[in-house]
Amino acid sequence: MESVPVTSTEAELISEINKLKKEKNAVILSHYYMPASIQQLEREGGVADFKGDSLGLSIEATKVKAQNIIFCGVNFMAETAKILNPAKNILIPDKEAGCSLASSITAQDVIALKKKYPGVPVMAYINTYAETKAECDVCCTSRNALKIAAQLPGDTIIFIPDKFMGENLKRQIQATTKKNLILWNGTCEVHEQFSSRSLASFQKQFPEAEMLMHWEVPNETVADNLFTGKGILGSTNDILTYAGASNSKQFILASECDFSSTLKAAYPEKEFITPCIYCPYMKKINLQNILKALQSIGNNEQQHYEISLNAELLMRAAIPVKRMMELS
Ligand code: 13P
Ligand code: SF4
Repeated sequence: MESVPVTSTEAELISEINKLKKEKNAVILSHYYMPASIQQLEREGGVADFKGDSLGLSIEATKVKAQNIIFCGVNFMAETAKILNPAKNILIPDKEAGCSLASSITAQDVIALKKKYPGVPVMAYINTYAETKAECDVCCTSRNALKIAAQLPGDTIIFIPDKFMGENLKRQIQATTKKNLILWNGTCEVHEQFSSRSLASFQKQFPEAEMLMHWEVPNETVADNLFTGKGILGSTNDILTYAGASNSKQFILASECDFSSTLKAAYPEKEFITPCIYCPYMKKINLQNILKALQSIGNNEQQHYEISLNAELLMRAAIPVKRMMELS
């Protein structure tokens, strides 16, 4: 992977972070939506020890030997790492790193749904907070949602909280089964911006390009722009794999802007046209607050960054997350 150019201040921060994480017995996990200088591995000129999609990061969190994990992603992801590793210290450089999907639904909302549809299994997208997860039967990420839905009993599933991802899943599930999905009204404020019209104009400009669309893109956009041409509707990881395997040289990316740096670095011979929309929550994390989180380890400031969930909540939220791991 080629490294991206950094300013001298960034270079100093990167070198300070890489030195300190060894001294503090810490590793840095980074989501693909982080800026290149963060998600690039140390040997590539960045600060990450591991980069991945949300499922990849959850799995990696269970293998980490270091006592401290600096989680460069958003809160619900850092919480998942804590749920899977209650004995480790999980630090997020800015606790304001939220998510419009996670904040669209509460535990009380799930309790009300279960009352309205008794006995119907509740499948929660990983983009939910621990209190919400604790009320659900199973979790899923964008990578394993179809596989998990297929294994749930009965002919109806409550899927929360992304209504567009739910509509996209429903269309694929109903192509082969009679299963119905009851949906919540949440949306990702990044992916919902990929309108049918804007993508159609990119497609007109680049007629040879294939479409790379995340599950969270509105179902109307998918129907209008993907089914007329080549490409994939899938998870972050599916998109990365598909772009590598495809013979095409040009792609239009309908996902978070910084993910294009992952794609460009992985496949430098290919072109990724990216209508650039950033997740404001992911962008709360930067080199400065990563350094501060590292410096806090072992002193009073640590609690400012550390994910703290009470023992009962950790135990209850672990049930649907572990079920997801077993079924995926
Ligand atoms: P992935 O599960 O594909 O990493 O996506 C997480 C996310 O927040 C997408 O917006
Ligand atoms: Fe949440 Fe969307 Fe940001 Fe992903 S991109 S963290 S779903 S707001």
